[in-house]
Amino acid sequence: MNSIVNEIKKLKEEKNAVILAHCYQNIEVDEVADYVGDSLYLSQKAAETDADIIVFAGVYFMVQTAKILNPDKKVLLPRMESGCLMADMVNLQQVREFKSKHPNIPTVCYINSTAEVKTECDICCTSSNALNIVKSLQAPQVLFLPDTYLGKWVESQLDGTEVITYPGYCPTHLRIKPEDIIEMKKKYPNAEVLAHPECHKEVVKLADYVGSTTGIMKHAIESDKKQFIISTEKGVVDRLKRDYPEKEFILIKDNIICPNMKWHTLEDIYNALAKEQHEINVDKDVAQKALKCIDRMLEVSKQCQKKA
Ligand code: 13P
Ligand code: SF4
Repeated sequence: MNSIVNEIKKLKEEKNAVILAHCYQNIEVDEVADYVGDSLYLSQKAAETDADIIVFAGVYFMVQTAKILNPDKKVLLPRMESGCLMADMVNLQQVREFKSKHPNIPTVCYINSTAEVKTECDICCTSSNALNIVKSLQAPQVLFLPDTYLGKWVESQLDGTEVITYPGYCPTHLRIKPEDIIEMKKKYPNAEVLAHPECHKEVVKLADYVGSTTGIMKHAIESDKKQFIISTEKGVVDRLKRDYPEKEFILIKDNIICPNMKWHTLEDIYNALAKEQHEINVDKDVAQKALKCIDRMLEVSKQCQKKA
């Protein structure tokens, strides 16, 4: 086995550390990760862990969420550059302005948002539970931020709830155009098209299945089809190809790569753990308020998973 992989595993044991990795990460990160998955799965794992140190190979908002759930643990981000362009599209003042334009309406924030923004929201969601979270509010109108496309996709799945969205978006997913899907469908007429709800609504309309990163993976694994056009970040395709060589997975186009997710290398993970560096901290008051919004999501998700 590769020596850096061995060194990281040794350090993990010595320091009682856990490594969480999002499935958009560079695939070699999986060799040392304890859990690999989507944002919901990783926040559930962060909430459950009894490790002393959490090394999070993901983007900043995911690591902040892990810290808020574990105020007494050391939470490390191997590369501090790993932000999320969508999360940076809304700040505290902007969420307040958005709410004041639409008063007395419950506010849902996508987990892709900062801790400060979460303090102003009633509940957060991820792409895999957004529909259940909005439904759980039983409100005729809901404010949703920052992702307008996820918010509008949720609205399209509901009977009568108006989802008023903030104009944020994911630049990586918006690179996928409806023409790309039409062209790929012509080229691979037997393939199923699987898309992330951060994609443009005209792309989502053309998909056979819409879901979170792990939703897409699960659907592809369970489907009787053999060929899939994947409309989300390349990391999903890399993992599907590695784990299911009997099926064919085609990335919708080559440049669907989130640069911020790709910062962390095995060396960065080793350095973070060895030097216990790049610790993420969240102001105590902010963390306490943001925790309510995150806890509420985890509770609703738990109830929905029990019923399923
Ligand atoms: P998931 O909720 O599917 O993990 O998505 C997170 C994300 O940032 C997608 O761009
Ligand atoms: Fe943020 Fe988009 Fe990257 Fe996801 S893919 S982390 S939403 S910039």
